[in-house]
Amino acid sequence: MKRSLIDICDLSTEEIEEMVDVAKDIMRNPQKYSEKCKGKKLAALFFEPSTRTRLSFEAAMYELGGNVLSVSSADSSSASKGESVADTARIVSCYADIIAMRHPKEGAPLVAAMNASIPVINAGDGGHNHPTQTLADICTVSLEKGRLNNLTVGFCGDLKFGRTVHSLIQALSRYSGNRFILISPEELNLPGYIKKDVIEKNRIEYVQTTSLEQVMPELDILYMTRVQKERFFNEEDYLRLKDSYILTPEKLKSARSDLSILHPLPRVNEISVAIDNDPRACYFKQALYGKYMRMALIMKLLGIEP
Ligand code: NCD
Repeated sequence: MKRSLIDICDLSTEEIEEMVDVAKDIMRNPQKYSEKCKGKKLAALFFEPSTRTRLSFEAAMYELGGNVLSVSSADSSSASKGESVADTARIVSCYADIIAMRHPKEGAPLVAAMNASIPVINAGDGGHNHPTQTLADICTVSLEKGRLNNLTVGFCGDLKFGRTVHSLIQALSRYSGNRFILISPEELNLPGYIKKDVIEKNRIEYVQTTSLEQVMPELDILYMTRVQKERFFNEEDYLRLKDSYILTPEKLKSARSDLSILHPLPRVNEISVAIDNDPRACYFKQALYGKYMRMALIMKLLGIEP
């Protein structure tokens, strides 16, 4: 049966952990994987800006010995002529073996998966979900902390529109003993449905605050995010909120020495570059781990044994 990854819930906890193990094995032994996808093609359909996600999917497929077909903007594809996502998915199924799709509309990758005859991976749909970033984040937490449970995780910034936060909360809610601290301006609070259907349903302890400074000493992980300019209805609100949190060496003084700082990137202003060389900064490694997790995922969805 064809499998897709639209929401992180499409993967069981065991499957996510297996993929982390495969990613770690790829890091140790890349040669073993260099022909796993020989003769296979990934279609990268990106209808919204992306650097990391698109390039890491492409690099992942090349490092597995496969090939890539790429659409990098809606303007250069038939979407600009009015083609539906459903039709695009049917057509691309004739040319490729697997699709990675990013789209500004929530639910577009799901529509693609319902109409494609090949697996579809959601590479980010509007302000909704971003499950492959979660795979990168989980791999980073596993490598940095050696565990996925009993962690106090601070999510800071745009928790309303930040799709990476939505998917990561979903994944970390499966583990016992995790505690979430939701740090955002009130207007950018985590959507109520995620609080209710995910955090509260899994009986995860959480607090909501506007002050990063106050909670800093408690954190094992600080997940910083960019204020999602492209999802705002008016520029004034964005300008008022964009610099709500800026992590500086000064603010890190009260943090634990084993804190791990994650960020899905791109960074705008929310982490000072003076922190980049701090051993607690994990965001560049996190981008690298994303490639290995995407390699593990592509193999899994194509039914290729590691
Ligand atoms: C994120 C995204 O696209 O949602 N970026 C990424 O894929 N690494 C985060 C962001 O754009 O802020």
